[in-house]
Amino acid sequence: MESTWQHTTVLLNEAVDALLTKPDGTYIDATFGRGGHSRFILSQLAPEGRLIAFDKDPEAVSVANAIEDERFSIRHEGFSGLRHLEGNSVAGVLMDLGVSSPQIDNPARGFSFRGDGPLDMRMDTTRGESVADWLATAQAGQIAEVIREFGEERFAVQIAKAVVARRQERGPLATTAELAQLVAGAVKTREPGQDPATRTFQALRIFINAELEELQQALEASLDILEPHGRLVVISFHSLEDRIVKQFIARNSREVFDRRAPFAQPKAMKLKALERIKPTAEEIAANPRSRSAIMRVAERTEA
Ligand SMILES: C[S@@+](CC[C@H](N)C(=O)[O-])C[C@H]1O[C@@H](n2cnc3c(N)ncnc32)[C@H](O)[C@@H]1O
Repeated sequence: MESTWQHTTVLLNEAVDALLTKPDGTYIDATFGRGGHSRFILSQLAPEGRLIAFDKDPEAVSVANAIEDERFSIRHEGFSGLRHLEGNSVAGVLMDLGVSSPQIDNPARGFSFRGDGPLDMRMDTTRGESVADWLATAQAGQIAEVIREFGEERFAVQIAKAVVARRQERGPLATTAELAQLVAGAVKTREPGQDPATRTFQALRIFINAELEELQQALEASLDILEPHGRLVVISFHSLEDRIVKQFIARNSREVFDRRAPFAQPKAMKLKALERIKPTAEEIAANPRSRSAIMRVAERTEA
C-alpha cells in the first residue's frame, strides 16, 4: 500500500547527530513517517544496534514493513506505548511531531483545507472517530473550546455556532471543503499569508488525535526507558507542542525540593537540557514546511 506522496525529513543530520551517542545502543524513532530519520539512524548503527519505530498511521507502517533489516522493528501504535518498553534500556528517543507530508498532501486523509476530501484527520484510520463524526454531535461549547484551545483562534465561538447552524439546516459537514468554506464565512479578520481555516484545521487535528496528551505521556515514559546519558530529541512544529516539550525539560532539569520534608535530600534532576536548534535558511528555502520546526535535545542524568 505504499503511497506516492513524499516526505522531506526535517533536521535530518542535526537530529541523528544529537540522538546517537553509541553505535551499539537501542534507539527509538517514535514517529516513523516515511522513515527518513530511521534509515539514517540504521546507516549509523553497528550490527549490535537496534532501532524500534512507532507510527499510528497504517500507511507509514506499511512503508516501514518494507525495510529489511534485522536491527529494525516497527510498532503500529501511538508513541505513548513507549511506557511498555523496559526501563533504563534505550540510548535515545527521537520524536518528529505532527503530520507527515503524505498525510497533509493526500486529500483522502482529510487533513488539509486545500483540495477536497472526507473530513477525517485521523492518523490511525483503523480506529477512533473522524472529525466529521465528532462535529456531527458535539455541542457548540465543546467545539468552541477545542478550536480556541488547540487553534488559538479568536473566532472559535462564531465557527462553532456556524457548525451547529449548518448541521441543523443542511445536515452534518462531510468534507474538508465544506468545513473550509464555513470557517471562511465565520472568520472576520484575515491573517496575512494564512488561510482562514488554518487554525481550525490544526485544532481539530490535534484534538481528534489526542496529540498533546499523548506527547505528555510519551515524554514521561521516555524518562523511565532512557538509560543514563541517553538522549531525548524532539522536533515540534507549533507553539503548543514546543511549550509542552520546553516545560517538561525545564521541570526535569532541576532538583525537586519537597516543602513538606525540609531536611530530606532534594530529588536529583533527571534531565540536562543540551540544545535548541532551528533549521538553517538553506533548509527552509529547500523545504518551506521546515520553517516552524524547533528541535530540543536533553540528556538523561544518572538519577
Ligand atoms: C513529521 S512525520 C515524521 C517524519 C519522519 N521523521 C520522516 O523522516 O519520514 C510524523 C509522523 O508521526 C506519526 N505520529 C504523530 N503522532 C503520533 C503518535 N502520537 N504516535 C505515533 N505516531 C505518531 C504520524 O502518523 C506521522 O507519520
